Amino acid sequence: MSRKVEERLIVALDVGTSKVAAVIGEVGGDGVIRILGAGTHPSRGLRKGVVVNIESTVQSIQRAIEEAEAVSNCQIHSAYTGITGSHIRSFNSHGVVPIREKEVTTQDVDRVIDAARAVAIPADHKVLQILPQGFAIDKQEGIRDPVGMSGVRLEARVHIVTGSASVAYNIVKCIQRCNLEVDDIILSQVAASQAVLSEDEKSLGVCLVDIGGGTTDIAVFTDGFIHHSAVIPIAGDQVTNDIAVYQRTPTHSAEDIKVRYGCALASLVETDELIEVPSVGERLPRQLPRRSLAEVIHCRIDELLKLVQSELQSSGFEDRIPAGLVLTGGTSQMLGVVELAEQIFKMPVRLGTAQRAARVTGNEEIVNNPAYSTGIGLLLFGTEARSAVVSEPSGTIGVRGLLRRMKGWLQGNF
Ligand SMILES: Nc1ncnc2c1ncn2[C@@H]1O[C@H](COP(=O)(O)OP(=O)(O)OP(=O)(O)O)[C@@H](O)[C@H]1O
Ligand SMILES: [Mg+2]
Repeated sequence: MSRKVEERLIVALDVGTSKVAAVIGEVGGDGVIRILGAGTHPSRGLRKGVVVNIESTVQSIQRAIEEAEAVSNCQIHSAYTGITGSHIRSFNSHGVVPIREKEVTTQDVDRVIDAARAVAIPADHKVLQILPQGFAIDKQEGIRDPVGMSGVRLEARVHIVTGSASVAYNIVKCIQRCNLEVDDIILSQVAASQAVLSEDEKSLGVCLVDIGGGTTDIAVFTDGFIHHSAVIPIAGDQVTNDIAVYQRTPTHSAEDIKVRYGCALASLVETDELIEVPSVGERLPRQLPRRSLAEVIHCRIDELLKLVQSELQSSGFEDRIPAGLVLTGGTSQMLGVVELAEQIFKMPVRLGTAQRAARVTGNEEIVNNPAYSTGIGLLLFGTEARSAVVSEPSGTIGVRGLLRRMKGWLQGNF
């Protein structure tokens, strides 16, 4: 059966703070990924995107993989995974080299990327990703693939993502303990962007905001390329915690109430609507106005969105994103979040799911769910990285090959 042909299988393992999601896809001859199945398990060993308990994380990953394998009826051996957390740093850099033989070769591209990445980073950090932002030859800017072009001076602009080496190693360790190889580690919001942003939005200027359980991950695109990324350690978990504290209810009930009745804008809720809220201890449940729940949620989401806004202001991108914001991640599904973001940013805001990515088909429940944007994006990223390898048989890295550079140090360290 074709679904068992291993080289066509591609696996994403999104090890998030709330859930571990394993998504298995099959890449068709036309490059379209068909989702064969997915497995999800509550995540137990992470805090704010970072592994804090290896044993619990391994168990969650194992369960998610088993479920995905059972549903899709195939066995997996390796996976692309994401990384996030407050340890992530990113910056733009550029390098310049002379073009040796009048025409740009792939070796020139390699050299100019090496020149661009020659920057000091903290000793305990590793370069996780180098994402191209385009090349310039002599004075001509905005070149996507310079190989074969004539000139004397080649310049590369790149976005460099670094992260704590130990945090990355711990993710890899957990995945390897489940007998899986790590194909690559990709910044979570870069993966999610791949799934939910359109090329038009990226060209015009857009900000992706992935509001998950433990972190809110930001990626800003202008002129078609990523220019800024950041991680804010506030997301859905804080909302649940606020509900538990202010409505005096156990955390698991707070989570349930949030998902069922939560709203980030009190004006969207009827004034007289009541909800039943379980009490702590032996006390009886109470009837509370849904509006008071919305007010608690509003405070936290408002704070979070204003932090996103100040991140955009301090990085100088607030006026460079005419396509506005695209919200994704589990918390973006909450009623009123998009409307509240429109009020705060005074820009167009939409909910982003992977459905726009025409290159993914199958299982609508997964493809249309914003909580799976990172998982789907990892599949798209991995497929692109693989096709870059296949389409560059000369063994040189080439422009698209820049998308994969982490593997070397992964292999070197394990
Ligand atoms: N319908 C919903 N309404 C409101 N919140 C929701 C809904 N569904 C899920 N959530 C919240 O989304 C969060 C989980 O989102 P997601 O699955 O994107 O997180 P994650 O990827 O595991 O975590 P992170 O990316 O922060 O490491 C949880 O806080 C959950 O309560
Ligand atoms: Mg996530």
